[in-house]
Amino acid sequence: MSDFATLSPLPGSPASTAIALYARHTAGHEERVATARRVLRQAHEQHGAGLLQSSSLGVEDMVITALLAQEGLPTDIATLDTGALHPQTLALLPAIEARWGRRVTVFAPAQEAVLSFVRDHGERAMYESIELRKACCGVRKLEPLSRMLAARSAWITGLRREQSANRADVPHVEPDGQGRDKINPLADWSWADVWHFVQTHDVPYNALHDEFMPSIGCAPCTRAIAVGEDFRAGRWWWEESAKECGLHQTHHKN
Ligand code: ADX
Ligand code: SF4
Repeated sequence: MSDFATLSPLPGSPASTAIALYARHTAGHEERVATARRVLRQAHEQHGAGLLQSSSLGVEDMVITALLAQEGLPTDIATLDTGALHPQTLALLPAIEARWGRRVTVFAPAQEAVLSFVRDHGERAMYESIELRKACCGVRKLEPLSRMLAARSAWITGLRREQSANRADVPHVEPDGQGRDKINPLADWSWADVWHFVQTHDVPYNALHDEFMPSIGCAPCTRAIAVGEDFRAGRWWWEESAKECGLHQTHHKN
């Protein structure tokens, strides 16, 4: 699917930082970067303070934050802290502030709802059935997402076509199914593009990307991938599902 499968050497090899493995200049890179900048500027012109960057703090989202800063766009940035993120992910919050002087607003699930879910279904409910896994995503992600987007007319995401078959048709701008625009400035970027940009613009990134985790979500539901596995194989790896949690309804086919 992506270049990831063909380029992965064995873990522990000396050149195994994500930049060393994946950063590569390919034809059309400058045009794709220019398009992403234009998409962001146009979204800002159209939505102003109604626009929000929804950042998972993964590498695509760090690239977008860098582009917003470079373009001088004052777009708010927010993240959903599910209460189950890796410390390496949360470490990006102060890193973003130090690098670009931007504070990321953190939306967390209601504590009582999480406690009651865990009380009723246990800490390992997500592994028991797809229904319980989705219920956990509902409590920890979707409810805070609705608060995060409440006053917004558009949100920026790091979705890319290459990430999965489900996402193969992601456009730069699309309706989110809830009355807002979803802006996907990196829709046509490759994994090599992402890391080439990180390298050339010295973008801070999640240390777990150097540990063979290309796609990072909550700690209990993310593992490293092996040589030859798909980009999102480490997300909800025990499921035969389309590996979506409901954040992206228009790309949710199971
Ligand atoms: S997910 O739906 O499977 O979790 P993925 O990790 O690929 O999505 O991320 C796709 C995009 O969804 C990210 O680029 C980001 O815009 C948004 N997103 C995912 N997780 C979060 C999060 N915890 N907080 C805010 N936005 C998120
Ligand atoms: Fe719960 Fe896993 Fe979904 Fe996170 S990804 S909200 S831990 S089921």
